[in-house]
Amino acid sequence: AIIVLDYGSQYSRLITRRIRECQVYSELVPANTTLEDLQKNAHLDIKGFIFSGGPSSVYDADAPLCDPAILNSGLPILGICYGMQLLAQELGGHVAPTQGLREYGPATIEVLPEAAEDKQIFRIFEGISATPQQTDNLDASQPEVLRLPAWMSHGDSVDKLPEGFRVLARTESNPVAAIGDARGYIGLQFHPEVTHTPQGKEIIRNFLFRICHCEASWTAGHVIDEAVDLIRQQVGSDHVICGLSGGVDSAVAALLIHKAIGDQLTCIFVDTGLLRAGEREQVEETFANHMHIPLVVVDARQRFLDKLANVSDPERKRKIIGAEFISIFEDEAVRLAETQENVTFLAQGTLYPDVIESTSHDTATTAKSIKSHHNVGGLPSEMKLKLVEPLRMLFKDEVREIGAALGLPEEWVWRHPFPGPGLAIRVIGAVDEPKLKVLREADRIVIEEIRKAGIYRELGQAFAVLTPVQSVGVMGDYRTYAYLVAVRAVTTGDFMTADWARLPDELLGRISNRLTNEIAEINRVVYDITSKPPSTIEWE
Ligand code: XMP
Repeated sequence: AIIVLDYGSQYSRLITRRIRECQVYSELVPANTTLEDLQKNAHLDIKGFIFSGGPSSVYDADAPLCDPAILNSGLPILGICYGMQLLAQELGGHVAPTQGLREYGPATIEVLPEAAEDKQIFRIFEGISATPQQTDNLDASQPEVLRLPAWMSHGDSVDKLPEGFRVLARTESNPVAAIGDARGYIGLQFHPEVTHTPQGKEIIRNFLFRICHCEASWTAGHVIDEAVDLIRQQVGSDHVICGLSGGVDSAVAALLIHKAIGDQLTCIFVDTGLLRAGEREQVEETFANHMHIPLVVVDARQRFLDKLANVSDPERKRKIIGAEFISIFEDEAVRLAETQENVTFLAQGTLYPDVIESTSHDTATTAKSIKSHHNVGGLPSEMKLKLVEPLRMLFKDEVREIGAALGLPEEWVWRHPFPGPGLAIRVIGAVDEPKLKVLREADRIVIEEIRKAGIYRELGQAFAVLTPVQSVGVMGDYRTYAYLVAVRAVTTGDFMTADWARLPDELLGRISNRLTNEIAEINRVVYDITSKPPSTIEWE
């Protein structure tokens, strides 16, 4: 594995992802993690370290440093931005505020021709060439200078190199943009992990394969084998319950656990009545018939409707639904315990980004405190179920890849996320069955048209919202007074921010025609053109 020490850069997580995209396993750990801590994890066969960027200055009194044992381990280290400055300072060099302006944004680095003389030190740039358009810009009188676009963001620079290091690249305003030594210590002042550095991935590949001699073995098959082993070790002969949400994470968690322990797993799916058209049937069909994984389907439609009657406040709706979920789950666990011994584990589809977020990256303490996310809303403490989280070291795209490798249908693998409270937060105001029926039908039409237009995967989420607004319309010779439906479609990377999708006019027209023609209760359609922020993706 390659261990990434997190000094607080917004790109730290991206470094880990880039490494895994090269099929090398990588973990992101707090900057104060010790080599001894790391070596306690038998599964980590450490081949090298990356020190991330970060907002501090290495000469500040409270600057986050690193365990000296890591520096003395003999393993290669790539320092990026702050990481480079830390490496330089800790090995005897010197760092000072950048003379003149801070460098921020796109820059061009020049790889020094004379640096290529020392093949050992030059390995980080070996085999890298400018892309054709970049070559066009080159000054013909200096053909041997390799210039690469790179993303810079720093206010400090290395002004004295540690012993044994040489400068590998510079920019117009910074004479020390990359440094290295023969042991495989490399410092890059720019960020190779961002897409604004087009050759960045090649540079990372060089570090992994030419300097750390990693093997490209982090593949779906490998991940599955490892997860299966870990689940077997953790669970032993006990029984696991797993709540399915209809989303990709809980489905992949269930598939992995089933592969590991077979019928020691019971999957539970709650039909809340707040699901999309065909959702329950799809879950039943896939799990019971296609995957042959036994499934307990709880029909709780009436329970949820009763609890939600006349409730229009969004937060109250959410709380009621969360509480009802827990109560149903608890009933089922108790019921299962009557026929099953040792029901001691609860499976959750927690992903690596949640783990990173809840891991203490606080440099003041060496203890890693990992809180578990409660996707099902937090279970009552008297149940005392232990957690199995087979996805806790995986990113979403890896979960999708594994899902596909385990035979999860393509359509399911690529499903948009769907909120736990379901359609209840897309019927604005009080929820009742007639309104849910209208919305379910509207949602089906929106998704069907988006799929037909071939843009489903480009969108982060798309859905219909049933508003309580009624407006006047005309149909044939009749005046109508019916509901206003809003269509929402967004593009997003992480769902923390989102932009409204520029859907083609013809597609919007078709959606509007079908909604008003096929659903009598709807006579007006609007398209939501707000981004997040200031809006949120959902309306409630
Ligand atoms: P917002 O509306 O906050 O949504 O922009 C961001 C993402 O979270 C989903 N979402 C939820 N998911 N329970 C969930 O499991 C919830 O209560 C909930 N509320 C919003 C939303 O669909 C979007 O993907």
